Amino acid sequence: MSTKAPMSRVEPDEFVNDRYDAIEKRLGIVRGRLNRPLTFAEKVVYGHLDEPESQEIERGVSYLRLRPDRVAMQDATAQMAVLQFISSGLPKTAVPSTIHCDHLIEGTTAPQSERENKYGGVADLKYANVTNKEVYDFLASAGSKYGIGFWKPGSGIIHQIVLENYAFPGCLMIGTDSHTPNGGGLGAAAIGVGGADAVDVMAGLPWELKAPKVIGVRLVGKPSAWTSPKDVICRVAGILSVKGGTGAIVEYFGPGVEALSCTGQATICNMGAEIGATTSMFPFNSRQYDFLVATNRREIADLADSFRDNLKADSGAEYDQVIEIDLSTLEPQVNGPFTPDLAHGISELGDAARAAGWPTEISAGLIGSCTNSSYEDMQRAASIARQAIKAGLKAKVPFTITPGSEQIRATIERDGLIEVFEKVGGTVLANACGPCIGQWKRTEVAKGVANTIVTSYNRNFAARNDGNPATHAFVMSPEIVTAFTIAGDLTFNPEKDTLVGKNGEEILLEPPTGDDLPPRGYDPGEETYQAPAGSNVEVVVDPQSSRLQLLEPFKAWDGEDVEGALVLIKARGKCTTDHISMAGPWLKYRGHLDNISNNMLIGAVNAENGEVNSVKNQLTGEYGGVPDVARAYKAAGVRWVVVGDENYGEGSSREHAALEPRHLGAAAVLVKSFARIHETNLKKQGLLPLTFADPADYDKVGPFDKISIRGLKTFAPGKQLTVAGTRPDGSTYEFPVNQTFNDNQITWFKHGSALNAMAANLKS
Ligand code: F3S
Repeated sequence: MSTKAPMSRVEPDEFVNDRYDAIEKRLGIVRGRLNRPLTFAEKVVYGHLDEPESQEIERGVSYLRLRPDRVAMQDATAQMAVLQFISSGLPKTAVPSTIHCDHLIEGTTAPQSERENKYGGVADLKYANVTNKEVYDFLASAGSKYGIGFWKPGSGIIHQIVLENYAFPGCLMIGTDSHTPNGGGLGAAAIGVGGADAVDVMAGLPWELKAPKVIGVRLVGKPSAWTSPKDVICRVAGILSVKGGTGAIVEYFGPGVEALSCTGQATICNMGAEIGATTSMFPFNSRQYDFLVATNRREIADLADSFRDNLKADSGAEYDQVIEIDLSTLEPQVNGPFTPDLAHGISELGDAARAAGWPTEISAGLIGSCTNSSYEDMQRAASIARQAIKAGLKAKVPFTITPGSEQIRATIERDGLIEVFEKVGGTVLANACGPCIGQWKRTEVAKGVANTIVTSYNRNFAARNDGNPATHAFVMSPEIVTAFTIAGDLTFNPEKDTLVGKNGEEILLEPPTGDDLPPRGYDPGEETYQAPAGSNVEVVVDPQSSRLQLLEPFKAWDGEDVEGALVLIKARGKCTTDHISMAGPWLKYRGHLDNISNNMLIGAVNAENGEVNSVKNQLTGEYGGVPDVARAYKAAGVRWVVVGDENYGEGSSREHAALEPRHLGAAAVLVKSFARIHETNLKKQGLLPLTFADPADYDKVGPFDKISIRGLKTFAPGKQLTVAGTRPDGSTYEFPVNQTFNDNQITWFKHGSALNAMAANLKS
């Protein structure tokens, strides 16, 4: 029998051994049934089936009921998930769960008078602790009471903390954040979900997932000097597009795997969210072993090693699609602007920028975040910064560094990297999301002014980082960001172009270098974890609070078809969860459903007039903001629908994008296609996510039509519903719409929400 391997240093009574025993048992049953080689992703997913003997297993078709090993929640989404968990009436979470305070901390890049002219990580954290006190106190006390580990503000970004402490090869975990797949760098199937899924799992219910397809990415060769793991995923995004991974797990394999560090593998998995993948995973390998050992988890490393046959694909396993990337010929990639799948090899970027008319003068460079803040990333970026310092150069524009965790911050401080960044003109922000999620207090570029920023983050939708839709954000590796920030120019190719040093000399930068693991080990820094204390803790929500609001259950279905609903907005083009429920300043209302609903769909483009946040109130004929008109319909007792385009709800897993329309009286969301998480989130809140059977029917629906949805009395899996429309001139049309509800999800709809169905289930 192997040594007992605790799941983490803070959970000494939970063991990976038990998880592996369960996986082995379930896989034995599944193998007997499927009788074919399995991919690694299938092994991990099917190894967590609730009923392996009987559940239907067909990739891309059946719904699996799974038993995840753990749940992680970031502070913005945790508020609503914890509020929902409280309303379930359960005393303690059924699986190990954690809360991470990372999203609510603002990053500043210029002195701010209200902060006594102090800025940078220390001041930002201090400010966040004051402005978010009510929310942090709520999460800390509720976590403590309900058995949830609490990572305080300043501890770091959820995915980095999970990688350093919780993910392990073969683990199935869910996280209330789209970049949860970061854990795939340690061989976990780590899947981003909405808060309502987290509530299910914390309540001990099986978690449902459509059996994912599996896309194989075969890696060969070794990266050349300027190429990094980030370039692999930027290239994959360029090949597969933002929709290419939908419904699939991306599984990496091949001889090139071991050429990438474990944290680099995590970067690649992290950004699998940008192609809509369910998750991304690397099989267990020596780089993961080394990272586990470096993060004080040798027992897990050895146990995984003894379990390795279950932690890789069987020979002959078949993928639904295979792409191959030769690391040795891959050049650094720069993706953007405005979409993460617009990939450019760095040698082509200058021409592309000039041809498209993008601003080539760079206005800011940002490195770090959950995507790219490993020790290796920081080392490689610092190796570029050092060369600039030596030549008497500095960053030409604001340059920020966001450590992913306190452990990274303390380690790079000890090893002198922070000093290097500061010498080159950088500002080290708090260990938090900051500018990655719009929490960027930026004063040097006015709103509306077209400008270019370079980041090592993952997302680059319009207004994502600074709330300015005219900011062109380009995504790349931290070392390329650093080089760009010193050059100040997007047409600069660090592989070929020279910089001019202080004394007029021409400098060709040497390629970046760095260790993947700190030679002196990690410095843990300050202790930032709070263990649960138990049921006696009091959780208080002030009824007058503008940031927290206890939840009222939504009304159950009335048993009738939807008749005569108004079109609130017919959205045109991209409509991500950022467009549906904007982040930035709205983050502070994440725990208050009524207040945050004032941002509903304010970023969506109205197809009727091409404007954002301007729709016609069909009861008065006046134009108003989308949430205001929705509130007017709700007050008048009129149901409404949203009509949308392709991949509606792509982007972050934000469940508020589903809660808000439900709260303000929506009946259905009718689109050409959905992003997976958002579609499920809508179902969880008792809404009807529907897709046009014929996408051309999108054109039939006018912005002022009245919409009926028929067939609800015989609602059944796989059965189309009918949309009947009446135009203002009295003419009518009818067309079928598709829905992807299964039996269980139909009970959610009938009860008014998944939570209502769960509460009814617990009572019965
Ligand atoms: Fe935070 Fe940005 Fe990652 S918001 S979790 S750093 S994607």
